[in-house]
Amino acid sequence: MSDAIGSPPRAANPALLTLYEEIADCPACELARTRTQTVPGVGPAPAEVMCIGEAPGAREDEQGLPFVGPAGRFLDQLLGGIGLSRETVHIANVVKCRPPGNRDPQPEEIAACNPFLERQIAIVDPLLIVTLGRFSMSRWFPGASISRIHGRPRRFGGRIVLPMYHPAAALHRGDLRPVIEADFALIPELLEEARTEGAREPGGADEPSAHSTPVAAAAAAPSAEQRSLL
Ligand code: URA
Repeated sequence: MSDAIGSPPRAANPALLTLYEEIADCPACELARTRTQTVPGVGPAPAEVMCIGEAPGAREDEQGLPFVGPAGRFLDQLLGGIGLSRETVHIANVVKCRPPGNRDPQPEEIAACNPFLERQIAIVDPLLIVTLGRFSMSRWFPGASISRIHGRPRRFGGRIVLPMYHPAAALHRGDLRPVIEADFALIPELLEEARTEGAREPGGADEPSAHSTPVAAAAAAPSAEQRSLL
């Protein structure tokens, strides 16, 4: 991780910088009362790939940066394994403040943060969104079970959304490590497809409510691990 310890991100993109400043002042939910600082996100805008996790933990709350703890180290390894680095990927969370004791974010907290996430996605304008864990997955796949749909990308209007287990899951369950690695290995092919075939539909909505379609790449077929989980 090359981000300076203790320096929250200063976005180079003016729209992203404005967004980060608004997030820093946000009083919209209870998490504003307990946070050390907000954790808006990090990485370039625009960016081809955007990873969206759940919420900051203790290390992220201290540093103002997403995924700087143990799960972040694994995320960096996963990105490195497919030739990407955190410098080239935009990394964010559904919720921008740490839930006390790392409890799950509550529906009202997710709803309060959602306008920020929507603007962030619009500014970053990714070809591929990787959802890490069930809270970001639920934004596009409400009611889905992560064990059934991980690694199965779908196109939502202008973007491909690839649901994955949260990297922290592999820290508790070693058997998920190869599953997450196999899902990450789909990214280069999906990105290539998005670039060459053009994921964008003219004027296509990319809202979660938009009609979604499976992605044509072979990646959409269930892997052996997935079949065993179905
Ligand atoms: N887990 C998350 O979902 N986000 C972080 O930023 C860190 C851990």
